[in-house]
Amino acid sequence: MAISNSSWVRAVVERLTIDHVGHRGDGVSTATGEAIYVPYTLGGETVEVDHVVGNHPDRRKLLAVDVASSERTEPFCRHFGVCGGCAIQHWAAEPYQAWKRGIVVETLAQAGIDCAVAPLVDAHGAGRRRITLHGRFGTHDILKVGFSATSSHDVIPIDRCPILDPALDGALDAAWALAEPLTSRMPVTKPLDIQVTATANGLDVDVRGSGPLPTALVTALSRVAEQHRLARLTRHGELVLQRLPPTVKMGRAEVTLPPGSFLQATVAGEETLAALVAERIGKAKEVLDLFCGVGPFALRLAEKARVAAYDNDAGAIAALVKAARTPGLKPIKAEPRDLFRRPLVPPELRDFDAVVFDPPRQGAQAQALRLAASKVPVVIAVSCNVATFARDARLLIDGGYKLGAVVPVDQFRHTPHVELVAQFSR
Ligand SMILES: C[S@@+](CC[C@H](N)C(=O)[O-])C[C@H]1O[C@@H](n2cnc3c(N)ncnc32)[C@H](O)[C@@H]1O
Repeated sequence: MAISNSSWVRAVVERLTIDHVGHRGDGVSTATGEAIYVPYTLGGETVEVDHVVGNHPDRRKLLAVDVASSERTEPFCRHFGVCGGCAIQHWAAEPYQAWKRGIVVETLAQAGIDCAVAPLVDAHGAGRRRITLHGRFGTHDILKVGFSATSSHDVIPIDRCPILDPALDGALDAAWALAEPLTSRMPVTKPLDIQVTATANGLDVDVRGSGPLPTALVTALSRVAEQHRLARLTRHGELVLQRLPPTVKMGRAEVTLPPGSFLQATVAGEETLAALVAERIGKAKEVLDLFCGVGPFALRLAEKARVAAYDNDAGAIAALVKAARTPGLKPIKAEPRDLFRRPLVPPELRDFDAVVFDPPRQGAQAQALRLAASKVPVVIAVSCNVATFARDARLLIDGGYKLGAVVPVDQFRHTPHVELVAQFSR
């Protein structure tokens, strides 16, 4: 039977054999001559699938696993398969880790970057310390608070997420409690985003999408913030209530987080990346930290070296400047600067023994070009996107730098995201 309307097409059930798991975490079948993607499947499996839907003619929905891989494991979360937060909980640790390292190996090879790739370093640690939940009304005007569904903007209501750091305990309850008064005033179609971060003084919450808050609502939200003992509640970065400053420890320093600034997803991820950077910096005395955020690298490196740091997030730079006053640290000069539009140029790079750059997913093409033309002896790249890293690495290699072994880091366990640290020297 075929049912169709303007955006959904339903077809007969198909049987497919999965060849391997692709770079986005979906099983890939090429039996029909074109790549067909089936989430939640593994190489070697035979599966029954249904046509998905709308804008994804090359995707199928898993209905049943007829022949399971010996590497298949039981997912540990009851929301797995509908919640878009995790792509992989059904795969044994060893092949999962080999696959994740393989993403780095294959992407670099495809880009013609010839280098060694170290074993994957697990950095899940205690789990995620920051989440963004969505609040939205569903059918019959029932409020849903949770994560986005797989491949859609639907919200999957969540009461428990086992991959969170225990320091985020209470985050889901607080989000539900905040969403109720906030969404009561919002049009049903508008999504509400609730970002919750675990800090040393409790949960730091920033809500987005609610529109301006009338006084009565501020009072209601403040009451919820008190009841849930939040460290701070902000709306679009504007303070609603602060009980205690939301701080995190970075090396010896204590950083008060600005609302909305970047923070590595796990404590172990931040510590692992910072340790890999510090090892590669060695005895450098003058260090430049580009795309420094609130300073997880700068603040640790300043225990031994003088640091200059740049980022375009003025709030993050202000937080770093304040934390840089920690006794015992060497001087840190931190300034806001858009490094896409105004990358540091070779004369500005002249006095540094080592440069770290850790750009957003787009990479740092303009800055990599300037680094390639510089004489800085050691350049360390930290990246959350292997493809843009490969593009920037090509610029540095063509500029005469030698690339050492790339270290893949798994901070986003159960997802296809992978970070890496790499050293370039001349
Ligand atoms: C992946 S984060 C890394 C931050 C920091 N190194 C850390 O580990 O927390 C990327 C940083 O790049 C900054 N950024 C994004 N676009 C930028 C731009 N055009 N110029 C300068 N910094 C930018 C963001 O504010 C963010 O802090």
